[in-house]
Amino acid sequence: MNEEEYALLRALADGGFHSGEALAEQFCVTRAAIWKRIQHLSAFPGIHIESVRGKGHRLEAPLELLAEDAIRRRIQPELQARLADLKVMPVISSTNAFLAEQCSPYLHGGQACVAEYQSAGRGRRGRQWVSVFGRNVSLSLAWRFDLSMADLAGLSIAVGVTVADVLADAGLKEHGLKWPNDVHVNGKKLAGILVEASGEMDGPCQAIIGVGLNVDLPASAAGQIDQPWTDLASCLETLPGRNRLVGDLLDGLLQTCVRYQQRGLHPFLETWKAYDVYMGQEVKLLMGKDTITGVYTGLSEQGGLVLDGPGGRQTWYSGEVSLRGKT
Ligand code: ATP
Ligand code: BTN
Repeated sequence: MNEEEYALLRALADGGFHSGEALAEQFCVTRAAIWKRIQHLSAFPGIHIESVRGKGHRLEAPLELLAEDAIRRRIQPELQARLADLKVMPVISSTNAFLAEQCSPYLHGGQACVAEYQSAGRGRRGRQWVSVFGRNVSLSLAWRFDLSMADLAGLSIAVGVTVADVLADAGLKEHGLKWPNDVHVNGKKLAGILVEASGEMDGPCQAIIGVGLNVDLPASAAGQIDQPWTDLASCLETLPGRNRLVGDLLDGLLQTCVRYQQRGLHPFLETWKAYDVYMGQEVKLLMGKDTITGVYTGLSEQGGLVLDGPGGRQTWYSGEVSLRGKT
């Protein structure tokens, strides 16, 4: 999406009709040029523009576009000072990939990137993360830790707790965490977290923390998601604005990075328990074609899953297994 198309989208974001003539005048171009831009915009998943003779063009529904100042207003001043950069992009392949390419591993403080649409959003182990334009949260924060790679193993657990707390503050009640860090509501996936770490084995390390949250995902996107999913619009009567959600998530994540650097995973473990959907239950752990069943008894201090299985008590890490309910 180029600058001109993005500007036209901003003009249409209120959801009202705008005549081709008025838009042409506003952008100092011909009506044919406006039409061409509308065609390009309509090619993005999630953008539906209705064109009615005599009335003009309008979006199917109003769109709250992301804005840096509105996001920053939600972040506490002392944490804002630690956020060196916040990029708001209309379209990008992946916010995690963008930060991985752009960020200096030696930078102190955080760098964040948020996008209206990711064309190649990614999940764990190369899986796809699906989104549509302007109806989700796709957010990444890069942070440098003076910790070893091994120390960062539990970071994604701490991030899961942070995302769950932010959603609780936004009014969500029935959500829980599926180890290692998916946010679920009644067995359906609402949000996913992808933490990618790089650096020296003994530190310092850089973590890129990615959060994908379905805010108001249209059913047309469902075909691409190969597991039950949900969005905030289906769970909440009053939907919080996306700028508020992104700001609150960043505020929470910045706070979590500072805390994790100082105290590690330990302070997050108690809250994790309250959100965990499977702890104490009989579960399956999938490893490629192999499956192990056992009772999920808790988390280790490093965030591994402790399973009482056929071979006795064993701790598993998220890189090697996927957790599923017994049935
Ligand atoms: P696990 O984390 O236990 O290994 P997972 O199936 O949740 O299992 P992830 O890599 O965490 O796998 O997430 C990627 C998966 O999430 C995709 O394979 C797809 O099933 C699902 N997914 C993709 N986009 C969305 C979305 N917008 N909302 C909900 N789920 C999605
Ligand atoms: C998962 O459930 O496997 C993790 C999904 C993570 C998706 C987010 S969206 C923002 C960031 N950019 C990406 O490409 N992925 C993460």
